[in-house]
Amino acid sequence: MSPSAISSADVQLGTNPNDLEPHWMPFTGNRQFKAAPRLLVKAKDMHYTNADGKQILDGTAGLWCVNAGHSRQPIIEAVQKQVATLDYAPGFQMGHPLSFALAARLASMLPETLDHVFFTNSGSEAADTALKIALAYHHSTGQSSKKILIGRSRGYHGVGFGGLSVGGMAPNKKQFGNLLGNVDHLPHTHSLEHNAFSRGQPEWGAVRAAELEELVALHGADNIAAVIVEPMAGSTGVLIPPVGYLERLRDICHKNNILLIFDEVITGFGRLGASFACERFGVTPDIVTLAKGLTNATIPMGAVVTSHEIYDTVIQNAAQEIELFHGYTYSGHPVACAAALATLDLYKEEELFQRAADLEGYWEEGVHSLKDCRNVIDIRNMGLVAGIELEPREGSPTARAFETFLKCYEDGVLLRTTGDTIALSPPLIIEQHQIDQLISTINKQLETVE
Ligand SMILES: Cc1ncc(COP(=O)(O)O)c(C=O)c1O
Repeated sequence: MSPSAISSADVQLGTNPNDLEPHWMPFTGNRQFKAAPRLLVKAKDMHYTNADGKQILDGTAGLWCVNAGHSRQPIIEAVQKQVATLDYAPGFQMGHPLSFALAARLASMLPETLDHVFFTNSGSEAADTALKIALAYHHSTGQSSKKILIGRSRGYHGVGFGGLSVGGMAPNKKQFGNLLGNVDHLPHTHSLEHNAFSRGQPEWGAVRAAELEELVALHGADNIAAVIVEPMAGSTGVLIPPVGYLERLRDICHKNNILLIFDEVITGFGRLGASFACERFGVTPDIVTLAKGLTNATIPMGAVVTSHEIYDTVIQNAAQEIELFHGYTYSGHPVACAAALATLDLYKEEELFQRAADLEGYWEEGVHSLKDCRNVIDIRNMGLVAGIELEPREGSPTARAFETFLKCYEDGVLLRTTGDTIALSPPLIIEQHQIDQLISTINKQLETVE
């Protein structure tokens, strides 16, 4: 489609191709996109409508975030009402009732020990906030030497300096140098040799958690503040935690007074067929980060949920009136809180987390039916998530997956790719026939990609 073809009343662009130029798009090949734009102008339930008026089945819940499906009426109404009632209230030294209601609601959904909530506006801010809270906690206990933050290779914790530093996706880091000092990384758990075509949790890989003991021996427990991992790594290509892996991390952290942070920005709110990954895996961290599905992506919002032990320690030991020198202008924004509360109501009324659990078997059969497709070297799945890994094309890694993405989009299905992995994470309202459409479109298009 030429840029001039997108000048419809819906998108209000002029006929000048330079209309697209001023927007520096995130994580996008700007030159490529602007030469052949893909513009979405409407969304309802499982579908986007693009600027050509074509319906696109959403196989990715936007960016892993529209868990209840698009433009849901109760969320729209809650947002409209709130913006007309209290558009904004300062969050520093002032408050409004909705943020307290939302904090209580989230605390009631998470394991009992996780019961204090700090609001942010995104997953990146949630990751940075969680790392800062971990440092503040050890500072409060007088253990200021505990400063090292441990992430994981192939981890993704957003794009702030903290999250990027503990993250382990090389392309995201190489333009920016070494970032934070005081950081180290665990190895990831992905191994085609041991784990290819696992269904649910792979059997092999808990051994990789033992590397944390090596890092403790190397740096000394007295110097390590926290370990942050995604319980299931999403953005780096759907890496499901091996059996026993998270339990082992929990145990080592506990023994060494290291805080364990689960980044649940993707895994929260039903994605794995339970409210949160910590529930699904039965492992409770000290801190959880949330975003995305929290508001069904209607309004940006993130959150960090900590144990009462962390909250009490920082609050009780503070030498000054303000206990934590941290916060954002929009922390606990009233419109975001209204969207989140309506979203949580919708999840509950429609039992969407259970729906994801109920669909898991059908989903698993569907995605694994692609096993013998051209270039497929691995398929992994859990809840309503799947990763389909392709053999990288010699000399141009990532091209094969990206071409599949483009072809599927032309064929009416939205996928996401990361490296040479196709990542699927549809809204939890997906119907079986829509799963069939998703799978058959991928099946068809994979055969056309060299
Ligand atoms: C696990 C995880 N943490 C953090 C982030 C960053 O969230 P945001 O893009 O809202 O800053 C993401 C985004 O995909 C994520 O998957």
